[in-house]
Amino acid sequence: MRYNYEKQHRKGKLHAMERIQALLDEGTFVEIGSLASHAREGFGIEQAVTPYDGVITGFGEVNGRKVGIYSQDFTILGGSLGKQHGAKIAGIIRLCIEARCPVIGINDSGGARIQEGVHSLAGYGDIFYYNTLASGYIPQISIIAGPCAGGAVYSPGLTDFVYVIDGISNMFVTGPKVVKGVTNEVVTTEQLGGAAVHSTDSGVAHFRCRDEKETYNHVRKLLSLVPHYYGDNQAKKYDYRALENEQKMLDLLPEKSNRTYDMKNIINALLDKGSFLEIQEQFAKNAIVGLGTLSGINVGIVANQPYHMAGVIDIDASDKIARFVRYCDAFEIPLVTLTDVPGFMPGLQQETRGIIRHGSKVLYAYSESTVPKVNVIIRKAYGGAYIAMCSKHLGADFVYAWPTAEIAVMGAEGAIDILYHREIKAAADPEKFKEEKIKSYNEMFLNPNIAAECGYIDEVIDPDDTRKILFQSLALLIHKKSTRRLQKKHGNIPL
Ligand code: HXC
Repeated sequence: MRYNYEKQHRKGKLHAMERIQALLDEGTFVEIGSLASHAREGFGIEQAVTPYDGVITGFGEVNGRKVGIYSQDFTILGGSLGKQHGAKIAGIIRLCIEARCPVIGINDSGGARIQEGVHSLAGYGDIFYYNTLASGYIPQISIIAGPCAGGAVYSPGLTDFVYVIDGISNMFVTGPKVVKGVTNEVVTTEQLGGAAVHSTDSGVAHFRCRDEKETYNHVRKLLSLVPHYYGDNQAKKYDYRALENEQKMLDLLPEKSNRTYDMKNIINALLDKGSFLEIQEQFAKNAIVGLGTLSGINVGIVANQPYHMAGVIDIDASDKIARFVRYCDAFEIPLVTLTDVPGFMPGLQQETRGIIRHGSKVLYAYSESTVPKVNVIIRKAYGGAYIAMCSKHLGADFVYAWPTAEIAVMGAEGAIDILYHREIKAAADPEKFKEEKIKSYNEMFLNPNIAAECGYIDEVIDPDDTRKILFQSLALLIHKKSTRRLQKKHGNIPL
């Protein structure tokens, strides 16, 4: 086979086959369906030569473990998807479901092959169907390494992890020309669906890489951290090494509770060195989600990020957290939650866009999940967000609190204004009166004591013991079997 490497290189992209070679362990790729060709007549397609019908499919290994892969070849009719091309992709996903291994899709395509009409659409339909069947059973990874336009975007949209690459990814339902025609907006492809947009604003992408090489290395790291199929007990290896914190944990918190700090320092101090792999790093930065290991145990991390918007939960943070919790639950990855949250985001814009609907997803996802769930309340846990962030009430196995934890319906200022607005007005010295009330509110509520007395917190722990206690709790729960069973088809998550 003579691949047209040059045509791709001129566009600053690797060829479909080079991409497979860059991603898989050397010499492991086995191609299937290499003799497939287009199946239609009309609009000149009968003269077109379409080796492997424009998509290379097969299987191989990553880090010594099997994976299925497809890679669209833009040099063949723009990587467009015709009947055989679609059938090959759907077929490889189905094969991976049966072989129980991850499937990786490298997308570089002009979308539905115009000359093949409804057969192209049928191909997409089959792919979406198998993407959905595979969901929660095998990991599905999409790499957007060129255009991905029209309904084609919904296959990556259905998968677990979407990679975008600076300068070459373009992903949109309708391109600039259609947008101009319909809404009269003038936009570039980059503005509509470039790597920056999908990693920062839309939340469609989970990882943004600077170039293709970085992308394939990153996928290899990701695959080393996730189970390769539902029931894969890779995640259950652990040991008792290096449980002491190397760092005084309270040094990572500012003295005053209204000062901000970077939760990532705490995450990195708790996890095995260098193991944290953040997901959706640039999207909804007020929440942090990612994968890592804790003394060898694979864990999913969910945390608030006081460094951005004080760690408040808004619509985007809700979607980000809920989706990740469900991912971890589906693949039985234990969840470690680190809480420092002042509440759900107030305001007209959030209410009218549906913070109720989106915030509910977090409650639903945590309540529904049956994986080991351990929560550490670092500082604030206020109001509905206290409940939402993996509280005992939503089925956490263990909730620990640092002595710095503050568990309350709301912060002192707001609470006193509501409770004593009349008395403040009538007081001889309103400021003094208010200060005294705030002081006693803080003494009563802004600590973990009442919650611990009532059993809502299992233990108030020395921050420097956190890594050890997390490990011991997870080791206990590693073979957790939920006894919760209700006969029903499925719940109705507020989507
Ligand atoms: C058939 C296609 C094609 C398509 C590109 N080609 N897209 N052939 N069907 N959808 C062919 C071109 O004719 C050209 O052939 C070659 O691929 C390379 O394309 P270029 O346009 O020269 O490349 P470039 O300038 O890089 O532009 C890339 C592009 C553009 C932006 C992707 O090709 C484009 O706009 N394509 C159409 C995108 C689109 O609207 N697709 C349909 C979306 S709707 P030659 O012979 O000249 O090399 C859809 C519905 C799916 O996908 C629904 C699922 C539910």
